[in-house]
Amino acid sequence: MSLWGGRFGEAPADALWRFTVSHADRRLLAEDLRGSVAHARMLGRQGILPAPDVTMILQGLADIQAEAAAGEFLFLATDEDVHSAVERRLGERIGEAAGRLHTGRSRNDQVCLDLRLYLRRTGSERIAQLRAFAAVLTDQAEAAGDRLAACYTHLQQAQAVPLAHHLLAYAWMLLRDADRFQDALRRMNVCPLGAGAAAGSSLPLDPASVAEELGFEAAFDNSLDAVASRDFAAEYGFCCAQAMAHLSRLAEELVLWATSEFGWATYADRFTTGSSALPQKKNPDIAELARGRAARVAGDLVTLLGIQKGLPLAYNRDLQEDKEALFSADDTLSGALEALGGMLASATLHPPPPSPFTVALDLAELLVARGLPFRQAHHTVGRLVRRLQAEGRTPADLAADELAAAHPLFQPADVIRLSPAASVAARRVPGGASMDSVRDQIARLRTILAD
Ligand code: ARG
Repeated sequence: MSLWGGRFGEAPADALWRFTVSHADRRLLAEDLRGSVAHARMLGRQGILPAPDVTMILQGLADIQAEAAAGEFLFLATDEDVHSAVERRLGERIGEAAGRLHTGRSRNDQVCLDLRLYLRRTGSERIAQLRAFAAVLTDQAEAAGDRLAACYTHLQQAQAVPLAHHLLAYAWMLLRDADRFQDALRRMNVCPLGAGAAAGSSLPLDPASVAEELGFEAAFDNSLDAVASRDFAAEYGFCCAQAMAHLSRLAEELVLWATSEFGWATYADRFTTGSSALPQKKNPDIAELARGRAARVAGDLVTLLGIQKGLPLAYNRDLQEDKEALFSADDTLSGALEALGGMLASATLHPPPPSPFTVALDLAELLVARGLPFRQAHHTVGRLVRRLQAEGRTPADLAADELAAAHPLFQPADVIRLSPAASVAARRVPGGASMDSVRDQIARLRTILAD
């Protein structure tokens, strides 16, 4: 049964019910009950409801909370949404007094409250998961020791780096993602209850006390804004989408690394899947799905923006559509963090040594340090690279006098600079790919993650 039958001369058409009712909000049950408890208490404090009614309502809500916690709350096909279901159930338990709970309230402010309470909780969970993922990356970086790998630009080997430096790049990205959630949660922490359907109420409600009881930073400033705005939802969606974009980049690398061509990584059997046809296969499906699902979360963000676009103030039913997109984005991120984190933690990383050609920039910089303009140094080393490649050789094959002959500013002793290890050892820029930088990053990450 709907909450609004009085005005209507006939029952809702099945087609209307099928089209308008969404079950997505059922997962807001705990938040809806919590918000209702705070609302009922405020109605009592303000003398809007008589104490005996408040007592009955609170007892009824507590019983329903117990039902919900036990997974025994039953939704009916006739419940239009979670708010209607709770009011219906309260009526079954305490009778007529249930009809007083919705005093001074509308589902429009109620659903915003529920969503904010829900996202506050899930946002904290996502922050914890992102930090745990950053810790896995830091552990893997530590386990990598001083093992070297190539880093890439244009997927061509660029420079030698400590493998740890590559892994830590993702740790910093995910910490920023966690920070973004924190930031979104701070802005979201405003209580909309009391805004009512659109413009507030003639009853002496006290939104500030409800806000305080529910742990919000403040109550709303403008009732129309409170019920109509979904920037908090879209911002949460962006946090999910950006984190998924980061995970999908890592996922792509985890897929590449497991190829026999790359040979960088081996994952535990329990985090990989087999082929029904090809007996030798061991597939990185988790990483592929994380990569694929990043598309869905980006789509969810577009949905959250699209729902708002062109929507007149204040509440419109379009806004009901926010929940499916939000929950899809949040669930997907949560699942990806869990599964990909497990897969990464299970990985043994064994990248082959970088190509000897990755020392090319170091050779050019040797000449620069001795006074040659960079463009000339680049050209000199470029010619050397071309010659070596034509001869089927690499810089590792250069003899001391051969190197010295390549340019008057080279010296025979420079041959010791011709290895990727020497290249990494010579790296100086703070935050660059040196072992000093890696040690410093690990120490800083450990401090941040211990906080
Ligand atoms: N189910 C609605 C939503 O999710 C709740 C608010 C409905 N309000 C209304 N006047 N129909 O947005």
